[in-house]
Amino acid sequence: MQEKASEAVPSARWIGADVVFADVASASRYHCRSQAASMLTLALDGHVWASREQAGASVSGRLASGPDNVTVETKVTESRDTAETGDAAASTLAETRLAFVGAGVMAEAMIAGLLDRCLVRPQQIIASHPREDRRQRLIERFGIQTTESNRDAVEQAEIVLLTVKPQALATVMRQLHGRLAPRQVTISIVAGAGIEKLSRGLGHDAIVRVMPNTPAQIGKGMLVWTATEEVDEGQRNKVKAILGALGEELWVEDEKYVDMATALSGTGPTYVFLMMEALIDAGVHMGFPRRIAEQIVLQTVAGSVEFARVSGKHMAELRNMVTSPGGTSAEAIYQMEKGGLRTVYSRAVYAAYQRTKSLAKDDD
Ligand SMILES: NC(=O)c1ccc[n+]([C@@H]2O[C@H](COP(=O)([O-])OP(=O)(O)OC[C@H]3O[C@@H](n4cnc5c(N)ncnc54)[C@H](OP(=O)(O)O)[C@@H]3O)[C@@H](O)[C@H]2O)c1
Repeated sequence: MQEKASEAVPSARWIGADVVFADVASASRYHCRSQAASMLTLALDGHVWASREQAGASVSGRLASGPDNVTVETKVTESRDTAETGDAAASTLAETRLAFVGAGVMAEAMIAGLLDRCLVRPQQIIASHPREDRRQRLIERFGIQTTESNRDAVEQAEIVLLTVKPQALATVMRQLHGRLAPRQVTISIVAGAGIEKLSRGLGHDAIVRVMPNTPAQIGKGMLVWTATEEVDEGQRNKVKAILGALGEELWVEDEKYVDMATALSGTGPTYVFLMMEALIDAGVHMGFPRRIAEQIVLQTVAGSVEFARVSGKHMAELRNMVTSPGGTSAEAIYQMEKGGLRTVYSRAVYAAYQRTKSLAKDDD
């Protein structure tokens, strides 16, 4: 860990370039400053104090504000690796204009992730949405540009993100058909829409297809993606940087792996939540209050995931570590195997995979 010194900034004018003071007393605001070796984001939350942790960097700031006298003290502690990765991603996206078509939940999470990590500035983003109230929310929260027209949104963009629901995709593709230049990469996160369909619908070849999952909404997603050969290496690096703002991204060579990921990671949270719900219910059945059972199960799952990641051991080995002869784990494993739990998971994932493929066919 590397510690940076606190700094006092005595003039409102000096920081005025980075911080919108008029809004200090309202909601969180983003400000980005790339001097001083690291990217610093200070969320001005409420009145005088803000502190936030992101991308491995812990940032805190104190703000004292008066008409002619504004001071910001900041202290940044961050890991060198994170700073370097963040800086690299930021420079990859410098000056890249992004357009979000259909700025709903996922687009908002993506925009927040990109701005939080200082990978782009608000001026680089435009988002389209049919509803005025939604557009207003995006302007207030992020200070980005918005438009009602999907066509206007994509006009100046280097990277276009299709973030509508599958039901709206046909309309959007009709509107954008033939309007995208070959250099404009189009990233689709629309579940079940294959590259062939996107390419045909848009009359466009530079396509990236991504399968995210719901934890992406808090920057903890698993995003499996592939790209057509028209997307060159420089553009792929930009895609990587953008998707990294939503969690862990993984490039795969063949689109069939995106279909498989739809069943494993896209649908994945469903398997995990059902398992957790069952465990919580079991806890309540034994006599725990529900709140306590929830706390125990959440931490047990989170801790087990972290332990598996850090140890790098095979899952069976980790399981054996807690299975003593004639013990509680042995008894529980016997019941889970007897009930066919392993087979149930396997069948569920395979069924989801078949469903993904048949939905893609139905759509054609
Ligand atoms: N949410 C997830 O965790 C998740 C996970 C994996 C994949 N995905 C994929 O991500 C995509 C977006 O999901 P989401 O949860 O962000 O959906 P969402 O919140 O419904 O966002 C889509 C937005 O597009 C707007 N819209 C509707 N018709 C439009 C049109 N013709 N032009 C422009 N915008 C239009 C919708 O407006 P209204 O609200 O007025 O309808 C909505 O706000 C989906 O295709 C989904 O398959 C999402």
